[in-house]
Order: sequence, then structure tokens, then C-alpha cells
Amino acid sequence: MRIVNIASEFTPLCKTGGLADVVSALTRALDGRGHDVRVFLPAYSSLEALRLDRWEVDFARDVEIQLGPHTYRYSLHHARVPGTTFKVYLVHCPELFHRPGLYGNAEDEHRRFLLLTRAALDACQRMGFAPDIVHCHDWHTAFAPLLLKTVYAWDQLFAKTRSVFTIHNLGYQGVFSAAHTNDLGLGAGVSHLHQGDLHAGRINALLHGLLHADSLTTVSPTYAREICTPEHGFGLDSFLRNRGDSLVGILNGVDYAEWDPRNDPYVTDRFTPADLSGKAAAKATLLHRLRLTPTTTAPLLGVVSRLTWQKGLDLLYECLPQLLEKRDLRVVATGSGDGALEHFFGHLQERFPQKVVFHRGHSEELAHWIEAASDGFIMPSRYEPCGLNQMYSLRYGTLPIVRRTGGLADSVQHYEAATGKGTGVVFDHADGPGLRWALEHFLWLYGEQDHFRRAQQNAMAQDFSWERQAGHYEQLFSQLAVR
Ligand code: ADP
Ligand code: GLC
Repeated sequence: MRIVNIASEFTPLCKTGGLADVVSALTRALDGRGHDVRVFLPAYSSLEALRLDRWEVDFARDVEIQLGPHTYRYSLHHARVPGTTFKVYLVHCPELFHRPGLYGNAEDEHRRFLLLTRAALDACQRMGFAPDIVHCHDWHTAFAPLLLKTVYAWDQLFAKTRSVFTIHNLGYQGVFSAAHTNDLGLGAGVSHLHQGDLHAGRINALLHGLLHADSLTTVSPTYAREICTPEHGFGLDSFLRNRGDSLVGILNGVDYAEWDPRNDPYVTDRFTPADLSGKAAAKATLLHRLRLTPTTTAPLLGVVSRLTWQKGLDLLYECLPQLLEKRDLRVVATGSGDGALEHFFGHLQERFPQKVVFHRGHSEELAHWIEAASDGFIMPSRYEPCGLNQMYSLRYGTLPIVRRTGGLADSVQHYEAATGKGTGVVFDHADGPGLRWALEHFLWLYGEQDHFRRAQQNAMAQDFSWERQAGHYEQLFSQLAVR
């Protein structure tokens, strides 16, 4: 199949979260299965530092695109993804993409990703590439299905193109003022916009992906059910229920070339399920590097996370300091985001300097070390479309401590001592007592050596490889493709 993938993130080129890992691993897996996959990404200024092998594409130099009253020019670059033979297209438009971060709050934020989407479809026309599938992700590229039905409908090149929209996170919808309606360039197709919203003065980008894509997916079966309820629907549950038949949940996979203790690219202490001595060594190395008090008896708990309300880490406010007072344990956390959460972890480090380290920011290397060295991984999310870190943790024999929601519920089973089955600690209630129970339960399990080892073995035996998950996308795409 000929597949176009339009996204705002791609590992290792541009990443703020799991979206980057998923788009990268999925497209490379589909490419590996013999499909012709063309990926389009913004040429963010941060890419300059990566010194990519990068070529200008002849047929798309300095191309004008009109977004309502705004005129932009883009050039297409072809770039090789480091460490692979896979190439992606970068949409070079410094005016929109040379900014301090991947995302921002500027008034033109919607136009940045609209330009990406338009440039991707425009480039298909220029190279005569007729996609069977256009796959788009989250609010940023959610207008692709509607643009195919309107602005590009005249072009026979797209006559057989079917669109798939994947929801990675319903919590971010890309809402902007209806004063910018003309930026979409829909002409008479403006009637396809959600009229109620328009009258209320707003346009919701993600909603239009939901309304117009031929098929909808999200990143776990449980999240697919949850978002059809008012509790998790972020105001869009009725639209999702209406499209119930076209909505499927496909669990994300793990790129085990990156995340496996046998061949971790960052962690020098390697290990296997048969011999966990390397895991003990990794713990000793990390504690030493971070200048924490060494221990072979106290557990190390890890956190690697965007610090947002979604992740539920504020539920630690009461119980974690209390546990650190009473019990011998170590905590290593990395992340950035909400000021209050950053302050909490920073303060915890000041109060327990021998036991807690907090690294504010993003460090791929530290994330790998935390996965490898920790005994438990804390992920108390209020909602979690899929979540990748709990699946990484499983591979490293690091027991995930998770709330039963979304992809966490689909990938971690609570360990039951009676049966010896299960891979982590799972709790139900997104509140302080719920998480306290889970942490105390984890500490109990850690003390029960035989059970703990068994749970680790169960965890390490799980397989969430992309090989399998990409097959589900392949099946969906081939059902949609017009032959
Ligand atoms: P989300 O996409 O909601 O942030 P996921 O669990 O799907 O959650 O993916 C998070 C990804 O981002 C993982 O690859 C994780 O290792 C990475 N990540 C999050 N915070 C950091 C950080 N501070 N440093 C390095 N990697 C991080
Ligand atoms: C989102 C979700 C996360 C998911 C990731 C990749 O950022 O929050 O749960 O794993 O996308 O699909």
C-alpha cells in the first residue's frame, strides 16, 4: 500500500512524548513490511543541531501556500533518520517552525500544523504519489480528512485515498477562534465545519478529524471504550459514540531495539530474565552517579513523565513524603511541565537529599537508566490513552505501579500472590489513598522475595512488539483501501 503519514513528532528527530515513539516505530514497521510509507514532519529549528543527512527536493522548492489571508512558502527536504535507512520528508518553513519548542501558544499555532498538512498533500500532488491511506494523528494533523474531502476533492490523484485518524490524547483538541475560519481555505466546504461551534465562535481541530476520517483509531482497546463515556470523553463522547462502528483501539507497541535490557543503547549494565545481576549493577551505578545512598535492600522507585494533571503525580503529594519519612526507599524522577509538580519533586529532593533525585527536563539517557535500574515505576495516571513507559518497565523487570485506566489496564495485570500471576501493582481510585495503598502494596511485594522475582519474570515475558501491533494497522488499512 501507498501510505502517507503526517505527524508533529517522530523519534529521534522531534519528541515531547509517546506520539513520537509511536509514529516512528509504526511507520518503520510498515515500511519493513514492504509498504511505501511517506512521512511528513515539520522542519523544526531543533533539527538543525542533529546534523541530519538532508537534501532539498527538486519539485518542491519555495512553494507558495495560501492559508486564507496569509501567504507562506515552504521547501521540502528529504532526510535520513539517524541509525536507519528510513527517510522522512521535512516541511521547511522557518517562519512557522523555527520556534523555541515544538509547540507554543502563539495566535498562529493552528496555521503551523495546517501548513504541515497542506504541504504534505501538496507534495503528493507534485510527486504524483496517490496514497491509498492518509494517516494523521491528534489535533495537529486532524484537518487532513476534511481537506481531502474539500480542497483536494477535485484531484483524481486522491480519488481512492482513505483517511485514518488516530487519537493519541483527547485532552488536547487544538481549539482556535472562528475568526480564523478562512485560514482553512474551505470555500463552500465551510459547511462541513461543526456549525454549533462556529456559531459559538470557535473551531475544534480534533473534532473535525473525528467527524471526517474514514476510520478512527485510538491507542488501546480500553481507551477506545472510555472515550465514548462522558467521564473520559472531554466533551466529545457523543461524537465518538456516533462513530462507534468506525472506532477501534489498537494498543501501541514497543521498539525493543531501543528498550530492552539485553541491548539498551544507553545502559552499560546489561541483563536478561535468566540473570538479573546486571539489573542490580545498574541500580548500584545509577545510585552512585546520582550520589544517592547505596543500598541493596531498599527499593528504587522511578518516574519518567510529562508533569501534567493527566499523569496523576499530584496524588503523591501526601503519601510519598510520608513514606520517605517512615521507610527506606530511593526515588529518581525526571520530567517537566506544571510548576507545582516541578516544585513538589524539587522540594522532595531538598528534603531527602540522600534518597531522592529530581532532574527537571528531558533526558533520553536518564529515562533509560531509570527504566533499567528501578524496582518499581510509578504511573498513577488519571487517564492514559496507552502509555509506553509501563511497557518499557515490564521489559526491564521494573514493576509498574499503575492505575486501572486506558492502556495501563490493557498492559499491566495486578500480581496475585495466590496464583503467582500478574506483572505489577494496579489500583482503581485516582486519589491519594488509592495510590498510597498501591505504594504500600508494592513495598510489601518487594519484601516477599519469591513473589517479587516471580512478578518480575512474568513482566519480562510480556511481548508488546511492534511486529504484532503494526499488523493490526496493516489489516485495517487493507480493509479500507480501494482495490
Ligand atoms: P505521553 O505520550 O502521554 O507523554 P507515554 O508513556 O506514551 O506518555 O510516552 C512518554 C514518552 O516520553 C516515553 O518515551 C518517555 O520515556 C518519554 N519521556 C517523558 N518524559 C521524559 C523525560 N523527562 N525525559 C526523557 N524522556 C521522557
Ligand atoms: C499520548 C498519550 C499516551 C500514548 C501516546 C502515544 O501522548 O498520553 O498515553 O501512549 O500518546 O500514543
